[in-house]
Amino acid sequence: MHKIALQAAAIGIAFASFAAQAAPAQTAEQLYQANCAACHGVKLEGAVGPTLGQHAWIHGAPTKANLIKVISKGVPEKNMPAWSPALSTQQIELLAGYIAANAGKKLAAAPAAAAAAKPAAGDLLSGFKLPKGFRISVYAEGATTARSMVVSDSGIVYVGSRKAGKVYALVPRADKQSAEVVTIAEGLENPIGVTLLNGALYVGEIGRVIRFDNIDKRYAQKPSYEVVKVSLPNDKWHGEKVIKASPDGKLYIPVGAPCNICDTDDTKSAKIYRMNADGSQLEEVARGVRNTVGFDFHPTTRQLWFTDNGRDEMGDNTPSCELNVLTKFGQHFGFPYCHGGAVPDPQFGKGRTCEEFVEPVAKLGPHVAPLGLSFYTGKQFPEAYRNNIFVAEHGSWNRSTKIGYTVRFITLYGNKLVSDTSFIDGFLRGDEVIGRPVDVAQLADGSLLISDDYAGRIFRVTYDGK
Ligand code: HEC
Repeated sequence: MHKIALQAAAIGIAFASFAAQAAPAQTAEQLYQANCAACHGVKLEGAVGPTLGQHAWIHGAPTKANLIKVISKGVPEKNMPAWSPALSTQQIELLAGYIAANAGKKLAAAPAAAAAAKPAAGDLLSGFKLPKGFRISVYAEGATTARSMVVSDSGIVYVGSRKAGKVYALVPRADKQSAEVVTIAEGLENPIGVTLLNGALYVGEIGRVIRFDNIDKRYAQKPSYEVVKVSLPNDKWHGEKVIKASPDGKLYIPVGAPCNICDTDDTKSAKIYRMNADGSQLEEVARGVRNTVGFDFHPTTRQLWFTDNGRDEMGDNTPSCELNVLTKFGQHFGFPYCHGGAVPDPQFGKGRTCEEFVEPVAKLGPHVAPLGLSFYTGKQFPEAYRNNIFVAEHGSWNRSTKIGYTVRFITLYGNKLVSDTSFIDGFLRGDEVIGRPVDVAQLADGSLLISDDYAGRIFRVTYDGK
């Protein structure tokens, strides 16, 4: 029951209001329209849920008895609510009869219905919530599984990707309000990380780092690349590698823990490294970092700030994901002994205390999956944004109620947290995922870009609230 209740909460207001209407609806058709049509379509043609006309039935033949079972119990983990708490036995029987009678009908194909349910551009943008004076638009589309971004001096944005195996260049159109997506490389192994150093684009794949020299001049010609000589673990689990050039010309690269939880202290994993541009002088700079998927250097102190994703399988509400700062090389951030600066690991935490490790600057919440972060240094946004942090939260994948799916704005006083507030909400609408923020980057005009690997979009945020 507990799980079902949580699921009802997860699908939010929409579900609550249908359930409220259940009582007055009497006929099977009315019951269906009031409770089911939003997900299965007004004509049973399907929308978020499958068509209830002729199709390959997921949960067995559409007999009345079988349908009563499916409707009563639902499929909470697949977003089909259980209806026995909200509807009477008699109402469920009526619905089961109605669906059984229609089960063989040929209705509009599900894919077409799904396409129709996709939000139009206006709905897409008006569904986002930002602070007053900020406006969001789509900067580029079709950058499938877009991950990290880096902006070159000439205004080209390079974007890594995950499953797509591609690296993209976003080339600004004449009006500079949007950009064209040019694929510069493909067939790579989850090339999520991109950074620029000395005019070259460095790309982090799972198993290697590659370099495209003089990229701004060559991006349009499927440029060749060199492999940078560096040997780091290439486990698939948490093995994707962001990469970032530091202000002093080094390359920083992490290696995640090859597990949800495991002992990594004596291995090369769960650490952050740095090296010279040619891969030489590889050295560890931080340890006890489970899986960082984004970092940036403070504009004045130049210290390394990074996110870290908390472990799973300790329930919905613990431990917290982290925002950290490295103030001394070699610092230990707790993994696998202590999580979120406060929670000893049930297995590895024995005989250790959280005090032994560097505490996070901010506890971002459980399962929120913080990925890219960026200090705002532009002039377009109000002064309060300067030298403070935007963090992209990709959102939970295994929590009963989804969390994250947002861009947060974090203000600091020195290295101390002052506030952590929402900057963009609306990537999750009810239980519908519209996008999953991955990285934040700044254009020369001070506008902010957000990459989304779910829809392959890059959004742009501008400020005109003078
Ligand atoms: C919030 C969205 C939502 C609502 C509301 C909803 N459903 Fe569903 N339903 C789904 C989803 C999603 C599935 C597919 C579950 C899966 O993949 O296992 C589903 C599956 C089903 C199935 C099984 C289909 C099959 O192929 O086996 C039946 C029957 C069904 N729903 C009936 C209903 C009825 C009757 C109502 C209203 C009382 C209803 N649903 C309301 C989302 C919804």
